[in-house]
Parts: sequence; C-alpha cells; structure tokens
Amino acid sequence: MDFTLSEEQLMIQQAARDFAQQELLPGVIERDEAQKFPTDQVKMMGELGFMGMMVDPKYGGSGLDTLSYVLVMEELSKVDASASVIVSVNNSLVCWGLETFGTEEQKQKYLTRLATGEIIGAFCLSEPEAGSDATSQKTTAIDKGDHYLLNGTKNWITNGNSADVYLVIAQTDVKKAHKGINALIVEKGMQGFEIGPKENKLGIRGSDTHSLNFNDVKVPKENRIAEDGFGFKFAMKTLAGGRIGIAAQALGIAAGAYEMARKYSKERKAFGTEISNHQAIAFKLADMHTQIEAARFLVYKAACDKDNHENYDLSGAMAKLYASQVAMETTVEAVQIHGGNGFVKDYHVERLMRDAKITQIYEGTSEIQKIVISRSVLSS
Ligand code: CAA
Repeated sequence: MDFTLSEEQLMIQQAARDFAQQELLPGVIERDEAQKFPTDQVKMMGELGFMGMMVDPKYGGSGLDTLSYVLVMEELSKVDASASVIVSVNNSLVCWGLETFGTEEQKQKYLTRLATGEIIGAFCLSEPEAGSDATSQKTTAIDKGDHYLLNGTKNWITNGNSADVYLVIAQTDVKKAHKGINALIVEKGMQGFEIGPKENKLGIRGSDTHSLNFNDVKVPKENRIAEDGFGFKFAMKTLAGGRIGIAAQALGIAAGAYEMARKYSKERKAFGTEISNHQAIAFKLADMHTQIEAARFLVYKAACDKDNHENYDLSGAMAKLYASQVAMETTVEAVQIHGGNGFVKDYHVERLMRDAKITQIYEGTSEIQKIVISRSVLSS
C-alpha cells in the first residue's frame, strides 16, 4: 500500500502542525492542571475546518479524506491530546453518523453547524453498567407516539458539558435486546436533561468528561437517527470509524513523546557525553522509532481502507490496539529518558504519559479490540 502523501495532505498536515505549535502549546500545561476546556482553540479549529473534516462541503465540512483527518489528529495529539479528542469525537462519533445515517432535515439542522465548529457534539453510549458490554443499555427511550420519553444515566461522556448536541443510545424495546435500541439526537436545554459533575481525570484533563442524567426528556420522533431499532448498529458502525481517530491520537502522543526524548537525549549530558551516546538510551530510541513507524502503517492502512470503501472494522481495531500500546510504552520510556526532569510538568512527557492511558480504554478497550480482531480472524 502506498502512503505517499499528496500535496494537499502535506499542506493540511503542516497547517495542523503550525496550529499545534502556535495555539495549543502555549498554555497546554496550565489547561491540564486546571482542567480547562480549550474554548478559544476549538473555535479556531472550527475556522481551520478541523471540526468537520470529512463532511461534504454542502453541509459545511471540509470534504477531505480519512487519511487527512488522521494526519491532523496525529499533529494535534503530539502537543495536546485533550484538544484532539474534542476533534475526534466531533468528527468521527458525531458528524460521521449524522452524515451517513441522518435525514436531510437532521443534517440541515445539526450537521451544518457541527461541521463548522459553531456547535460541538457528544456521543453517549457508555453507562454506569454498560461500558464494554454495550448491548446492556439501561437508558430507556419509550415510544410515546410523536416522541420518545428518555430516562437514564450516561457516563464518561467526552464534551459532556461543552457540547450542544448529544447522540444518545437508548433501549426502546427490551424484548428485542440490541435490535430494540435507538439513537436519538438530544439538545442541551431540553427539559429533564441534566449535566452531572465533571470527572477529575488522570489524563486528557483539558477535555470535559461528565455523566448525564435524563429524567422524562421528551425527544421528538424526528430526532431518531435511521429506522426504529438501528441504534446499536449505528453505535457499532460509528465506533468502528472512531477507533481510527483514537488510533491516530495514540500515534500522535507516541510521536510527540519520542521527539521530545530524542531531542533531550542529544542535549543532556551524563558521564561526560550526551546521553544519546549511551547505548542504553540509543537503543530505547531505536525501539520507540520502530514501534511508532509500525503503528503509523497500521493507522494509515485503516484510514485508507475507509477511504477505499473497504471494511475497516479489523484494520481500525488493530490500529487502535497497537497504536495505544505503543503510546503507553513510548511515553513511559520518554519519561525514563528525561530522568528526574521527566517527572515534572515543565517537560511535557509526564502529561503525554498520563494522556496515553485513555487511548487503551475509550472507544473500546484493548480487550474489546482483541474481541473484534479475534472474531474477524476466526470467522473464515
Ligand atoms: N458494524 C455493524 N454492526 C455491528 C458491528 C459493526 N462494527 N459490530 C457488531 N455489530 C452488530 C452485530 O452484527 C450484531 O447484529 P445482528 O444481531 O443483527 O447480527 C449486533 O451488532 C450485536 O453484535 P454482537 O453479538 O457481536 O454483540 P456483543 O454483545 O458480543 O458485543 C462488542 C460486541 C464488539 C463487544 C461491542 O459490544 C463493543 O464494541 N463494545 C465496546 C463498546 C465501546 O467501544 N464503548 C466505548 C464507549 S464510547 C466512547 O468511549 C466515546 C467517548 O466519549 C470518547
């Protein structure tokens, strides 16, 4: 497979790199410390076209391919994974599903503003008792004729407070199990919709993660996405693409930490020479570089599969599984190479290490990816 980037892809990559250096890097430590949402930066990313990268321009998007999206995710994540998850959720988990399965009215009403970053979205599948076991939805959406009555709690929702539009997965007909699940568009401010407290997280602290409570929220029927009972498939198909975005985030975190460690090793001296001259450090860098390149191939392959209309369930799961593992291992080694400096905030690598962990958990844990991969390889 040829991953030679086009002129346009190189330009987009450079634009994301410049934006990350100029607008995300200043203040990233402070935002992490204070758990401050990057409101101004999200607005700018909307202006740059990063919030609806793959959406058709007729709905306000940038009309780009998945590989371009991956390149942007990688560059943003090298510097600020909190900002990149906001981009990822809006693009993969919200815009993609609305564009692929939404009605024309839903696209005009919501997608046009989501794709420009005027408003942002959230994807609400996880519950206190249904994370990996996603078919066990306890949130109910009871059919009341012209509307659904929504009740329940969602957990760990990225963009939980900052979003304006929420795609909520809920059980309508329990007898039909996962075939009785629907996906509904819920707007902030609907009566009975309450945003719970903010989670105090290990990493990606600049993004806001909340629980959400729905108490007799009346959701109009026209806010259901696709046909009755399609909600679980909608969630699975959406997550399959989301996993490519998170894989790219993990790749970026790993690449960012590696580059900092490489640079540091050529400056820091010990035993009379730069530490990069010690084989113990040089070999770590060799391993990190090799693993990152391998992860990059998997992530780009998954993106190209999606762009080429091939099945990307398997390649996306493999990319996320491997890239998130590389992110974790690479960031731990980057801290080690930095020694004592790696343990303090100023050098960034401790933050990247904390940020890396979530890539092995959200949008399907590593164990879930292994279920998807093993089922696929054993199916033939
Ligand atoms: N595309 C289309 N349909 C799919 C699918 C896919 N990728 N994966 C499964 N399905 C369908 C199946 O075909 C099946 O439908 P039929 O009965 O009609 O054949 C149905 O979904 C149920 O599938 P399974 O029997 O395989 O279901 P399961 O209970 O064994 O679970 C699972 C499968 C892969 C483990 C799934 O539950 C899963 O992916 N769990 C993880 C959920 C997850 O990723 N949560 C993350 C939360 S979101 C998040 O993190 C967002 C954030 O804010 C960052």
